[in-house]
Amino acid sequence: MKYTAEKITFLNKNLLDCIVIPIFEQYKFSEITKKINKISNNYILDTLKKNNVQGKINQNIILYNIPNFLCSKTIIIGCGVRSKLNREKNKLIIYNVINILKKHLIKEINWYLTDLEIDNYQLYWNIRDTITIIEKNIYLFNKFKKNKLSFSSKIKFIITNNNDEIYFNAIKHSIAINLGIKKAKNMANLPPNICTPKYLSIKSTKLTKKYKNFSIKIIDEKMMQKIGMNAYLAVSQGSKNKPFMSIIEYKNNNKLQPIILLGKGVTFDSGGISLKPSKNMEEMKYDMCGAAAVYGTMYAIAELQLPLNIIAILAGCENMLSANSYRPSDIIKTMSGTTVEIINTDAEGRLILCDVLTYIKKYNPKYVIDIATLTGACVIALGNNISGLMSNNKKLSNEIIKASLEADDRVWELPINDINYFNKLKSNIANLVNSSDGVAGTITAACFLSQFTKKYKWAHIDIAGTAWYYINNKSTASGRPINMLCQFLINQAIIINNN
Ligand code: BES
Ligand code: ZN
Ligand code: MG
Repeated sequence: MKYTAEKITFLNKNLLDCIVIPIFEQYKFSEITKKINKISNNYILDTLKKNNVQGKINQNIILYNIPNFLCSKTIIIGCGVRSKLNREKNKLIIYNVINILKKHLIKEINWYLTDLEIDNYQLYWNIRDTITIIEKNIYLFNKFKKNKLSFSSKIKFIITNNNDEIYFNAIKHSIAINLGIKKAKNMANLPPNICTPKYLSIKSTKLTKKYKNFSIKIIDEKMMQKIGMNAYLAVSQGSKNKPFMSIIEYKNNNKLQPIILLGKGVTFDSGGISLKPSKNMEEMKYDMCGAAAVYGTMYAIAELQLPLNIIAILAGCENMLSANSYRPSDIIKTMSGTTVEIINTDAEGRLILCDVLTYIKKYNPKYVIDIATLTGACVIALGNNISGLMSNNKKLSNEIIKASLEADDRVWELPINDINYFNKLKSNIANLVNSSDGVAGTITAACFLSQFTKKYKWAHIDIAGTAWYYINNKSTASGRPINMLCQFLINQAIIINNN
């Protein structure tokens, strides 16, 4: 898709292919609709009445060659009751428009929907949302199909006020972020026989070669052994696919401490010796969605070149079962020296992450955010549209919540600061167990991680419920929470600019 913005005078001299304009319930017209209705001698109103298209949200009509108006196709889109329009309904309207574009294979369109006045909803966000919804709607994962269908079109947002700056800024941000989302989805949708930890490292390296201000460091199995990442290695040891930790460094500010984004990159989670049931096990290819999200976020950052220092880590690993697998009852000494008694080999994410959380101390990070499909319990607690947030720092969690509300990529904070949660992690013979009795599973997992993050400000995002979703009962990666993460980073750049 191509997105531009342009100020055009209403009475165009050249024939337009297509425009989309709003109407509200009870035949209430917006400014642009009024103007076209007037020059066409009430053609619009008459036709709408004839067809009983009053302006409800699911109503729309295409008018061809309206008299006295140089345009082949005019899509009139119902926007419901004007005073009741909100962000959610606006998103639905955009979704309806894109379905019409796809159905009629419309290649170029002039978009008159961004200047609708909606309470608590700025123009900037309307434009960001519009591009995000369009990109989500047209996304297809075609790689393994014989016939590769796709849809593409040129969208021109029509600027009606003197706010060109907002348009160009929002378009720039949204294109970059949606490129990141697409890159992440394309990675996460791959099967685990292709998307291995090694593959994650190859893709990470390619990204750093393509853009400026990037460098890469890959930590392989040998190096992990050398520095004592024994928990990470224990998870990996049952698999033929070797572990690789990819560290993407972006440096665009000499003075700042880095912000670290760490993604769980389990390319397949069989559960190990504590084997998962077969039903839906294929979905465990998505257990690397945290890594895909930090990878996608770096694509957006590469395009935007924000004046920050950011380190993204893809913690690639596979959790399999074999004669070499780690087992329930094994005791492992983590990189930090803390020992862990394995109760369940399926609680592998925290073992991989805990060693990386120890490793990154040397970067003296300003903030650390890990993103992980960590617990099935999070799906039970929050469902499929809200990610779990847990943190050891109120300021950081508030900034994440702010970004998530702005980007409409929601999170909900759960508490970790109660000793009762921590008590569940005690072991008789080691310092910690890796899995407890089952209640508050999302929180106890975060509590486990928090034992390794005491030296810095840290937040954990559990995306088990949000990393993928279903279209017609088939699963597909969502690219979440890239929109939130990018907004968080854009806000960090603004804060720095203001200081
Ligand atoms: N990757 C899973 C969590 C998961 C489950 C994500 C379902 C998305 C959907 C994780 O490694 C896991 O298996 N967690 C266990 C932890 C338990 C053994 C303490 C779980 O949630 O069952
Ligand atoms: Zn897992
Ligand atoms: Mg598991």
